[in-house]
Amino acid sequence: MSNNAVILAGGQGKRMKTNKPKALCNVIGEPMLEWVLTACENAGLDEICVVKGYESAQIDEFLAARASKAEITSVMQAERLGTGHAVMQAKEFLEANSDGNTLVLCGDAPFIDADTINGALELHKSRDCGVTVVTSRVEDPSGYGRIIRNENGISGIVEHKDCNPMQLAITEVNSGCYWFKTADLLEVLFEIKPENAQGEYYLTDCIELIISKGKTADAYISGNPNVALGANDRRGLLMLNDIARSEIIGKWLDEGIEFCCTDGVSIGNSVKIGQGTVIHSGVILRGNTSIGENCVIGNNCIIENTQVGNGVELNNVQAYESVIEDDVKIGPYVQLRPNSHIKKGAKIGDFVEIKNSTIGEYTAVAHLTYIGDSDVGANVNFGCGVVTVNYNGDKKFRTVIEDNAFIGCNTNLVAPVRIGRGAYTAAGSTITRDVPADALAIERTKAEIKEGYAARKLKNRTEKFEKQVRNSDNNEG
Ligand code: UD1
Ligand code: CA
Repeated sequence: MSNNAVILAGGQGKRMKTNKPKALCNVIGEPMLEWVLTACENAGLDEICVVKGYESAQIDEFLAARASKAEITSVMQAERLGTGHAVMQAKEFLEANSDGNTLVLCGDAPFIDADTINGALELHKSRDCGVTVVTSRVEDPSGYGRIIRNENGISGIVEHKDCNPMQLAITEVNSGCYWFKTADLLEVLFEIKPENAQGEYYLTDCIELIISKGKTADAYISGNPNVALGANDRRGLLMLNDIARSEIIGKWLDEGIEFCCTDGVSIGNSVKIGQGTVIHSGVILRGNTSIGENCVIGNNCIIENTQVGNGVELNNVQAYESVIEDDVKIGPYVQLRPNSHIKKGAKIGDFVEIKNSTIGEYTAVAHLTYIGDSDVGANVNFGCGVVTVNYNGDKKFRTVIEDNAFIGCNTNLVAPVRIGRGAYTAAGSTITRDVPADALAIERTKAEIKEGYAARKLKNRTEKFEKQVRNSDNNEG
């Protein structure tokens, strides 16, 4: 016996004007379906079945790319004939768990949470219900199904379009999330008829049918005021983004994170931040990112799927799929592309790009440098304008720079190449051969001075210039 979930994600969301399934529209950089799956996983559900329909290949692709905790499968709903019809497509999934409970929820209502899911399950079990609806009291109930309560729980749900004036005034609404005793759901699911204002198979009709079989139906009012919220168009989606943004920032304020100004700040749902850290304006933290304690994340940083240690200072940095260890200082205007590992105490200065490379402890890359496909040791110093020449137009090669090396300004390191421990490269060199430890490598032509050469050139240029001035004076006259 297990507690499973069916997530409805067949819809298109025409008013979003997108060719994506609606459940894949983003809230704070994550598809709404991701939010719902995360809530189900956090609630400890065993298996999840996603009902897909519109552009189902995009749902497949999203699920395949996702590192899931629960076991996730999907079924196809070829035609969108209503929420009841969508659940019918999961018949086999339901039958496999017919002695357990099934949570049905909408893939486009992102703010469902684990506490609500488990709170509703407790009520569902304690009252031995056939169905328990998760509800919310809202100021404006328009568009939602209204909850009809009675002395024994609820007697049903009436869709907005089917409501009489008295029912329209009810402010307790159906969030679209329900716990069913799976066997009770299966008993009535295929009895639903599309006889209503929209001509659809309403899942909500199951409630009256379950009651008619002598079972109990109840409603669980969620403590989360946003639990029912979904979006039908871009304005609605922006509203969800704004709500999520301020809820998440609020949560981090409570955890002791300092925000000087939250303009443009957007923090993903699964990001972690350590105490004593300060976040400045325009900072975007996304995906599986963690920031340590006592960091200063300066203006306009974008940090995605990156682990940041303690005491790190970042300023105008973009970092993707990287690791930044303790006490590192980076910026301004630095990009860490995927698989960069910046070790403890390193300093990365302005206009530096690093890709697929390790930078050793206390190494300094102060300015205007590209480091790609490189293994850099500890306490290395990069002069201004160093370039690792990692790509010959066909293949990529690695550069190795050992501890304590000193790379002169404007050095090109033509990979594959190794700079030995403590070795120097002379400024302006294009290094094409390995440099042994403690050596100095100079690869540039010897200086040559041609006396008087420039003066002759200048004479020609001056004559040309004077002629142009004379011509333009004549034209004006
Ligand atoms: C539904 C509920 C309503 C509730 C509201 C909460 C019914 C009949 N009504 O209405 O009581 O207040 O959710 O948001 O269930 N979907 C499919 N296939 C379909 C139809 C829908 O996969 O054939 C999916 C949609 O993609 C969406 C979810 O089911 O994720 C809800 O469908 P939607 O059409 O938005 O239902 P509502 O009319 O909002
Ligand atoms: Ca809806």
